[in-house]
Amino acid sequence: MKAVIFDLDGVITDTAEYHYLAWKHTAEQIGIEIDRSFNERLKGIDREQSLDTILIHGGAAGKYRDAEKQEIMRRKNQYYQQLIQNLTPHDLLPGIAGLFAGLKRENVSIALASSSRNAPAILERLGVMDEFQAVVDPALLARGKPDPEIFLTAAALLGVPPLECAAIEDAKAGIAAIKSAGMFAVGVGDESSMRGADLSVRSTNELTFELLKEGWQRCCCIREEK
Ligand code: G6P
Ligand code: MG
Repeated sequence: MKAVIFDLDGVITDTAEYHYLAWKHTAEQIGIEIDRSFNERLKGIDREQSLDTILIHGGAAGKYRDAEKQEIMRRKNQYYQQLIQNLTPHDLLPGIAGLFAGLKRENVSIALASSSRNAPAILERLGVMDEFQAVVDPALLARGKPDPEIFLTAAALLGVPPLECAAIEDAKAGIAAIKSAGMFAVGVGDESSMRGADLSVRSTNELTFELLKEGWQRCCCIREEK
């Protein structure tokens, strides 16, 4: 394991909750109700895909012109940015600072693979930008998660082969992307939503370098036995 690639929202900090609140508020304004269980489908996918998924759910696919959709997304992002403006280093999820320290100690590179265009601002507010040797710019990608492009780009930026990378995700689409990239997938959250991950934890406070290494070695043994 030469690199660990992190998702941001729901892995490094609890902004997955803020995305949910912002979409819920915005969807209500156009008469669409969403709940937490529906929200699982929005995790990991970009802004445009999220809006399309909400409109289909609300029976409003095709109802809005492009300019109107842009305006809805602008409102969602404005509300989201209000929610994240007071983030501080205290908002790092438990265990993440310790994991960064463990990876640094073991000379494992760290990269970010988030679909969020707000990611750099969030890393700055959390005070962890310097922990990352690479941050993928999602605006430069052709395809979002579950396509592996974002994880493969992170590995390429680090100069590490995908087979030497582990990646951590809280979203189904993210786990699928990691597996298609040929990487070791670590899921954070409910076991049911993390199906397909090579290693699952319920909470980030379980994440340590030692746990990742143990899971990695177990997984490599299985690969070799096949
Ligand atoms: C991440 C989150 C999604 C969010 C997407 C786009 O993938 O998991 O919930 O919609 O980023 O974020 P943005 O900040 O660019 O709207
Ligand atoms: Mg996430």
